Amino acid sequence: MELTIQKTSNPKPKPDQTKLGFGTHFTDYMLNMDYTQDLGWHNTRIEPYAPFALNPATMVLHYGQGIFEGMKAYRRGDGNVQLFRPRDNFNRLNYSARKLCMPKVDVDHVMQALKQLLQVEKEWVPGVAGTSLYIRPTMIATDPFLGVRASFTYRFFIILSPVGAYYAEGFNPIKIMVTREHVRAVRGGVGDTKTMGNYAASLLAGQKAHDAGYTQVLWLDGVEQKYVEEVGSMNIFFVINNELITPSLSGSILPGITRDSVLKLARQWDMPAVERKIAIDEVIAAQKEGTLTEIFGSGTAAVISPVGQLRYEDQVVTIGQGEVGPIAQRLYDAITDIQYSRSDDPMGWIEPVA
Ligand SMILES: Cc1ncc(COP(=O)(O)O)c(C=O)c1O
Repeated sequence: MELTIQKTSNPKPKPDQTKLGFGTHFTDYMLNMDYTQDLGWHNTRIEPYAPFALNPATMVLHYGQGIFEGMKAYRRGDGNVQLFRPRDNFNRLNYSARKLCMPKVDVDHVMQALKQLLQVEKEWVPGVAGTSLYIRPTMIATDPFLGVRASFTYRFFIILSPVGAYYAEGFNPIKIMVTREHVRAVRGGVGDTKTMGNYAASLLAGQKAHDAGYTQVLWLDGVEQKYVEEVGSMNIFFVINNELITPSLSGSILPGITRDSVLKLARQWDMPAVERKIAIDEVIAAQKEGTLTEIFGSGTAAVISPVGQLRYEDQVVTIGQGEVGPIAQRLYDAITDIQYSRSDDPMGWIEPVA
């Protein structure tokens, strides 16, 4: 593989691993790669992390033709570094690319390039319990042009950010608010991709939920505003009558890799797990009948995020006395044990780096 590495003369001091937070520290290097119609993807290079200059007419800045991914590198107890299902992230990037009229990347090529970047940046992978190195592959449309069409040129880059333990003080069930005023995604739209505009579109509802004292928004479908879709930027699970239920992938839901891992583990454990439409009314009714025992979100950032309280219009319902449920806990432990190699990896989800 052709890949050039330009060394930095200015390595940064590493931040305190006990105060990392999320997304504020960036490592010394980044990966860049360019696309033109003539050359395809070319000039894959590892360079010092630095701002890049963009023509003010650059298309991504105007029409949002941009996509990204989010995954992590984990430091194991023996010091080695590894990834969790990274090919699934690049395959999802390619799915997003197709829907946004952007060029696909070669998964083997970007995997190798990412591994080399991580080799160079190995020292940046934190080792304190629960920390990791967040990986943000991004693709943007770079033609300097103000007409609305797909760009002819693109930049792909990967930046890395050491991030703190999500649950520094243990699991804290979150409070979520159902919105009927806003929708995250529509039928036939791009809700099943990681495109930038989806996140911009979610901000106002998120702000309103926050102002009302809730951590996240629970999104309903964009057509009838009846069926549950996602929670904040996580997929959602319910435990009703001891059955694990998650909304089926309708085209407007992001197919989360953690969601898929939860379903695969549950099936391996012979736990009943179904993907189907689930109406918010069914959730409220199950809570009233006492059959709803757990709700939790799933995603790369928190892995599993238990929900303790849910507000829908004038009703506020508490789930499982506001404590972490046994299924959420078991899934969290099982997934994080695989990610840090504290347990075996029977599904083959781990990809070693260095
Ligand atoms: C909108 C949305 N839904 C769900 C997820 C969870 O996906 P994953 O488990 O792949 O992180 C994410 C995070 O990537 C997201 O942004």
